[in-house]
Amino acid sequence: MSEIADHAVDRQALRRCQRQGLIWVAEEGNRTVGYVIAAVLDGNAHIEQVSVAPTHARRGIGRQLIAHVEGWGRRSGRPATTLTTFRDVPWNGPYYRRLGYRELANTEIGHELTTTMRHEAALPGMDSSLRCAMIKANRGAP
Ligand SMILES: CC(C)(COP(=O)(O)OP(=O)(O)OC[C@H]1O[C@@H](n2cnc3c(N)ncnc32)[C@H](O)[C@@H]1OP(=O)(O)O)[C@@H](O)C(=O)NCCC(=O)NCCS
Repeated sequence: MSEIADHAVDRQALRRCQRQGLIWVAEEGNRTVGYVIAAVLDGNAHIEQVSVAPTHARRGIGRQLIAHVEGWGRRSGRPATTLTTFRDVPWNGPYYRRLGYRELANTEIGHELTTTMRHEAALPGMDSSLRCAMIKANRGAP
C-alpha cells in the first residue's frame, strides 16, 4: 500500500479542521504520537482519519482516539459514529469490528458518506472494491 502511505498531507485541509476543533492528538512527553480527524456526515460523527506512529502502535492509543470521537459525537447528540476503511486489512475492518463497528449495506449508506467514498475511490492506490463503510450506534440512540 505504498501509494496510499505516500499520500501528501493536505495542510490546508488540516488547518481548516484545526480551526473547526475537529482534530485531537495523542501526546507522549512533548511528541505527537497519533491523531484523529473527525467530521459530521449525514448527521453522524465520522472518523475521517486516525493514525498512530508505528513506534507507539498496539498500546491502545488508536482505541482511545476513536473513543474520543465517539464521546464527542455522543455529547453532541449524534446517533452514531461512521468511518470508511479497508474491509480486510487487519488494522482496519477487523480492528473496527473488535471496537463494535459493523459494515453498512450499500442501501444504508447516506448521501454525504457516499460522496466521501467516491472521493476516496479516486485517490491513487485505492481499490474501491476493497473498501467499506462502517457504523457504531451510540448507546441509547434509536
Ligand atoms: C489503525 C491504527 C490507528 C491503530 O492504532 P493503535 O494505537 O496501534 O491501535 P490499538 O493499540 O488501539 O489497537 C491495536 C489493535 O489494532 C490491530 N493492529 C494494529 N497494528 C496491527 C498490525 N500491524 N497487524 C495486525 N493488527 C494490528 C490489532 O487488532 C491490535 O490489537 P492487538 O495488539 O491486541 O493484536 C494504526 O494501526 C495506524 O495508524 N494505522 C495506519 C493508518 C490507518 O490504517 N488508519 C486507519 C484508516 S481507516
